[in-house]
Amino acid sequence: MSMNRGPALNTKALSKNLAVETSCDDTSVAIVREDGFVIFNTVVNQHSVHQPYGGVVPELASRNHAHYLIPLIEQAFKESGYNWKDIDSLSVTNRPGLVGSLIVGLVTVKTLSALFKKPYVAVNHIEGHILSPFLWDRETKAPHLEFPFLALIVSGGHTCLFEVKDFGSYTIVGKTLDDAAGEVLDKVARLLGLGYPGGAEIDQLSQKAKRGQYTFSKVKLKQNSLDFSFSGLKTAAMYLIKELNITKEDDSKVSSLCADFQEAVVDQIIDRLDRVIKKSPFKSVIVAGGVSANSRLRKRAKEWAFINKINLVLPPLKYCTDNAAMIGFTGIKRFQNGCKSPQNLNCHPHSLPEDFSLL
Ligand code: KG4
Ligand code: ZN
Repeated sequence: MSMNRGPALNTKALSKNLAVETSCDDTSVAIVREDGFVIFNTVVNQHSVHQPYGGVVPELASRNHAHYLIPLIEQAFKESGYNWKDIDSLSVTNRPGLVGSLIVGLVTVKTLSALFKKPYVAVNHIEGHILSPFLWDRETKAPHLEFPFLALIVSGGHTCLFEVKDFGSYTIVGKTLDDAAGEVLDKVARLLGLGYPGGAEIDQLSQKAKRGQYTFSKVKLKQNSLDFSFSGLKTAAMYLIKELNITKEDDSKVSSLCADFQEAVVDQIIDRLDRVIKKSPFKSVIVAGGVSANSRLRKRAKEWAFINKINLVLPPLKYCTDNAAMIGFTGIKRFQNGCKSPQNLNCHPHSLPEDFSLL
């Protein structure tokens, strides 16, 4: 199925979903249409709240969600000009994530669902990332993406490869055996005394640096393995920082280390994409999740896709990191497949394998 629709559509008739995402430290609300058009999307991040601690403090994250969520929903209606009558359904992330953060979103959406008599559906955050390349808006074009495709999800908590056969039909073909890509970028940034979240900081510093100063050995997994392993790279970076006594004041050393470390992470990602398409020649590949905002990964992935004649779809930067728009679009697709969540549903810190089968 292609999401590239012609201009003849009666967009008024398309169903609209109000979505909430509070799985970690970003509070996000969106209104999304069933063709992937994002009517409204806003994200309040809590970077400055967690920065002094070098990572997310769960209790502070929950309190901030409680503070921002309802005002953001009010803002969504005010700025979009829509009201409850225009909304057909609600969606909310209920897994995986920090339970205290997820609960704020889930209880809010359940309450609004009961109050305004709109059905709601709970969404797996990872499925949201998988479908994020379908999103478009006034500033970006509708993507051309057909099933089946290969989806690489690279975020702070996950690094997984999925074969996507249809909406709701995902098979894992590879995953990280230890840390996620975003997790090691964040950890190394922290060791270097950089800000939080570290992935974006490493990206920025790498742009000013020349690569090739520091060497990171290739991670040795079985030759045809489609899994990832990043913890060895993280340990190597840790030893380098200690041995060479690199501190945040050594501007050029820090930037060079960032550039070489980032390149080692990107090398492994591109190598796995290469291995998959040699085994199963997908015509389309998507890369999504927070780390897909990385400028070096985007460049290398585009070069790789060009050489291999692959239709690569990367979400616009605003839909790479956590956002409610991807949860809204996923929710609509779940509704269309007959899903509707009950009022006694709970949230989960982990993603369960059965989450990906449509009920
Ligand atoms: O998808 P996401 O917003 O949250 C999770 O689901 O985990 O991903 C967050 C991750 C963090 O590890 C962050 O450092 C990383 O995405 N990230 C980046 C960039 N922007 C965010 N990593 C590399 N380069 C970036 N530009
Ligand atoms: Zn995410």
